[in-house]
Amino acid sequence: QDNPVDGHKRVLLAAPRGYCAGVDRAVVAVEKALQRYGAPVYVRKQIVHNIHVVTELEAQGAIFVDEVDEIPEGSHVVFSAHGVSPMVVSAAEDRHLHAIDATCPLVTKVHREAVRFARDDFEILLIGHDGHEEVEGTAGEAPNHVTVVNSPAEADTVEVRDPSKVVWLSQTTLSVDETMETVNRLRTRFPELQDPPSDDICYATQNRQVAIKKVARDADLVIVVGSANSSNSVRLVEVAREYGAKAAYRVDYADEVRQEWLDGVSTVGVTSGASVPEVLVQEVLEALAEAGYGDVEEVRTAEEDLMFSLPKELRQDVAGQR
Ligand code: F3S
Repeated sequence: QDNPVDGHKRVLLAAPRGYCAGVDRAVVAVEKALQRYGAPVYVRKQIVHNIHVVTELEAQGAIFVDEVDEIPEGSHVVFSAHGVSPMVVSAAEDRHLHAIDATCPLVTKVHREAVRFARDDFEILLIGHDGHEEVEGTAGEAPNHVTVVNSPAEADTVEVRDPSKVVWLSQTTLSVDETMETVNRLRTRFPELQDPPSDDICYATQNRQVAIKKVARDADLVIVVGSANSSNSVRLVEVAREYGAKAAYRVDYADEVRQEWLDGVSTVGVTSGASVPEVLVQEVLEALAEAGYGDVEEVRTAEEDLMFSLPKELRQDVAGQR
């Protein structure tokens, strides 16, 4: 209820936040595949890095696996938004799987860059997190040409064969500032380092970081809705802290917001990662309203209207039905 004493408590809600075009497409792809082919539909890895999305799709009949060799021959499989290496594609072919590729087109773009620079015999310094599925997929396009650079510190030690033929590429969901620091440190060592033909960090990652920077300046506390394995969500927590939020935490669900986080807090910033459905943000806002933070102001720094068409395998099949 409204308490006049708490009138100064408010929420600044960052925008853009939540679903990007690539996540939306990947989730719809699994739903359409389930409708079209019936359950089960297999999905290699989490379709997007959000526990709620995965749980909901499981309830509809999706089965998530780590590798294609766990999938019965001849089944339908969806490749996740993070992309796959060519080895995974051929393993799926060997098992006669019907593959639907939900790789985000902006990840595919980086794959193409890797292939092209490898063909021109460049050494590729791929800035990103070792072990992340996207990095495995991109590196898998040119395994003999790619070296992963995990951090600015690694830029100081990485070795290359020929400093006159090096290019940097990156994972799509990194911190823009930290990546630039890594690039600057690489360029100090390798002055002929080439840039990618266009930004690899995607529009959604960039826009969400710009919005939370603006919010964080005025926030005592920032809550980022997103899962622990979501790279862009975890980056939002770091960026919020760097840009002035006194504290920043990540939650999957509203019930993880702790009462003590709110002690002495007047302004709470809220945002969500690119894989997070808006319903989860609304639940956090409801919990905050109950704690007296019912005054919500949206802080918008960009408009987004990008949409991707469904993976071609689904477009063909859905068209063939008519
Ligand atoms: Fe694609 Fe960026 Fe989303 S790479 S899946 S648009 S976070």
